[in-house]
Amino acid sequence: MGADSWEALADWYDRKHGDDGDLWHRALIDPPLLRLVGPVEGLRLLDLACGNGYLSRRFARMGAQVVGVDASAPIVERARLRERRHPLGITYHVGDATQLGMLGSASIDIVVCNMALMDIEDAAGAIREVGRVLRPGGRFVASLNHPCFDVVNASAWIVERMDLTTTIWRKVSRYRELSAGVVPWRVEADRIARTPAYHRPLSWYVRTLRTAGFVVTAFEEPEPTEEFLAGSPSGPWVAQIPLHCVIEARKEP
Ligand SMILES: C[S@@+](CC[C@H](N)C(=O)[O-])C[C@H]1O[C@@H](n2cnc3c(N)ncnc32)[C@H](O)[C@@H]1O
Repeated sequence: MGADSWEALADWYDRKHGDDGDLWHRALIDPPLLRLVGPVEGLRLLDLACGNGYLSRRFARMGAQVVGVDASAPIVERARLRERRHPLGITYHVGDATQLGMLGSASIDIVVCNMALMDIEDAAGAIREVGRVLRPGGRFVASLNHPCFDVVNASAWIVERMDLTTTIWRKVSRYRELSAGVVPWRVEADRIARTPAYHRPLSWYVRTLRTAGFVVTAFEEPEPTEEFLAGSPSGPWVAQIPLHCVIEARKEP
């Protein structure tokens, strides 16, 4: 089954995340990401693959000078619309993560890439380009689907009920294989749209970051908050096995 483009999902994606992010972002993935990012006041921050800009706006409210880049023109249009309605001084560009020509070398203090590296076909090219635009000592903080437990189209939950106990398993296949797949999104009650996604093993990310001149400085596996546990049927499962991770890497001086 082929993939739709992100362009086709722009409207739905904007509504899904609104100004605060959906439940998975707001109550599961963003808290450890924001902890790792830390204070950003006065920093020049690039939100790479920024989507509708809900995080860009959060960083701008925290005092950062924010630039957002995303390859999908209709999604960037949604972000610009939010900026026009409530200006926070954010500049958005339509652009590919592998070609950030609109940004000078060593011009950015911190790059955040929220839940997008696994959606970027040439993630090695994107990481190289992040290395170019970051100043020496600058940080790259990226959240993504956990390569060990969420392999696109090759992983699933198993809920095993035995006597009075329930055991949650996560089965994974083809872990070592670099592979491409499609992610289904229920965009309407009776319509599923699909976007492309790419699996690489965890060691691939660490090696690629090293090659681009980064040192990995932190690694988190988001744990459900009370809000997530209350709101998502997957809460108790994700409490046992993380589906996402957050990597912090520092560009070597
Ligand atoms: C799951 S969304 C995440 C968006 C946003 N960071 C968020 O947290 O809501 C993935 C985004 O990656 C963007 N994307 C995919 N490939 C890209 C590329 N090569 N360069 C820039 N953006 C890309 C898509 O347009 C989409 O907006």
